[in-house]
Amino acid sequence: VLHPLLATVAAYLIGSLSFAVIVSRVMGLNDPRTYGSKNPGATNVLRSGSKAAAVVTLLLDAVKGWLPVAAIQWWGQPYGLGEGTMALAGFAAFIGHLYPVFFKFVGGKGVATAMGVLVATSGWLALATGLTWLIVAYAFRYSSLASLVAALFAPAYYAFGDSVAWITDRNLLLSTAVMSMFLIWRHSENISRLVKGTESKLGKKKEGGK
Ligand code: G3P
Repeated sequence: VLHPLLATVAAYLIGSLSFAVIVSRVMGLNDPRTYGSKNPGATNVLRSGSKAAAVVTLLLDAVKGWLPVAAIQWWGQPYGLGEGTMALAGFAAFIGHLYPVFFKFVGGKGVATAMGVLVATSGWLALATGLTWLIVAYAFRYSSLASLVAALFAPAYYAFGDSVAWITDRNLLLSTAVMSMFLIWRHSENISRLVKGTESKLGKKKEGGK
């Protein structure tokens, strides 16, 4: 039986699968928590030198945000689960990534997982936010800066989408805004590195490879 609480707990458990660590282990790479920014995320896995591992991490971390929200969208209605539960479950998956129960609650920054949630929330919202990330990353070569700018813009895109009826639900707007706040806060070390000019750029040679 699908129940809002059950769906939320399941989403948190799925979110707790720290794919940066899992994929690196499976592919025989170093643990991303030991090199670079020490963050278990796709950007840091890229610093191992393995683009394939980074892409797989990015996709799987996004899928774990997308899946719970999409599942409720598809199958929730007969159980009375609507957008409120979708918002809660998406947020729970995101929190799972930040504070994973399977990894001593030491997780990542939530960029890929939040993107997955946005994909399930609204294709237009995800597209606008994803393009924002790509433009900033291409222009400035900082993954963290791209994530920060995208996180600032996502709720604004949502509010715009709301006004042109891409999206109709305020619970999801609230969860998008709260995710952005967490995401920015989790980047506080990146922000100080950006200010000091010591943040590592995308496309640099490997730092943590075996
Ligand atoms: O996905 C997180 C990204 O925005 C920054 O990662 O490893 O450079 O701290 P990192």
